[in-house]
Amino acid sequence: MDIKIRKMDLSDVSYVYDEEIKIFGKSLGVKTLYKEIMYNDLSRYFIAIVDDKRAGYVGSWLTIPNAEILNLFVSSEYRGLGIGKKLMKEVMDICNEQNIEFLTLEVNVNNKYAVKMYEDLGFTISRIRKKYYDNKEDALLMVLELGGKT
Ligand SMILES: CC(C)(COP(=O)(O)OP(=O)(O)OC[C@H]1O[C@@H](n2cnc3c(N)ncnc32)[C@H](O)[C@@H]1OP(=O)(O)O)[C@@H](O)C(=O)NCCC(=O)NCCS
Repeated sequence: MDIKIRKMDLSDVSYVYDEEIKIFGKSLGVKTLYKEIMYNDLSRYFIAIVDDKRAGYVGSWLTIPNAEILNLFVSSEYRGLGIGKKLMKEVMDICNEQNIEFLTLEVNVNNKYAVKMYEDLGFTISRIRKKYYDNKEDALLMVLELGGKT
């Protein structure tokens, strides 16, 4: 199986939107995704391609000194193949190149697979954000220390 990671472009917006709705029940929205790709210098969005098909996505902001993961998913039929980790590593590599100190993300406390994956990648739980999702479910704030000095 051939897994590639490439920059997201406008042709990917409808894939990301449809999958976000399917997986999370909500999306950043077509307009926001479009603006992020066209106009936000800080944004870094990537798409995973498996055998020429779109299989996943990661969105991040390279703010200095603390970069942020905005969202990550792997389409359900492609999970468990290492694609989630590969997308995360793409962002982590850029952060290292840019001397970023911390990479942070929020994850639902009940999302065991994702929490485990982030821990495997070196993230640690920093704190709980109560009622983070729709004022109901709690999130964990997870942080990866990269050691960069800006
Ligand atoms: C979380 C998610 C992105 C992981 O992507 P993935 O490509 O399936 O993950 P990987 O194959 O890279 O696996 C990464 C780790 O996750 C864990 N994991 C993934 N699938 C698993 C499964 N079915 N059972 C147990 N652990 C699993 C393992 O720790 C795995 O590492 P390992 O294979 O080295 O043991 C994917 O499940 C997903 O899109 N979920 C829905 C959306 C979501 O929750 N996004 C995260 C928002 S913060």
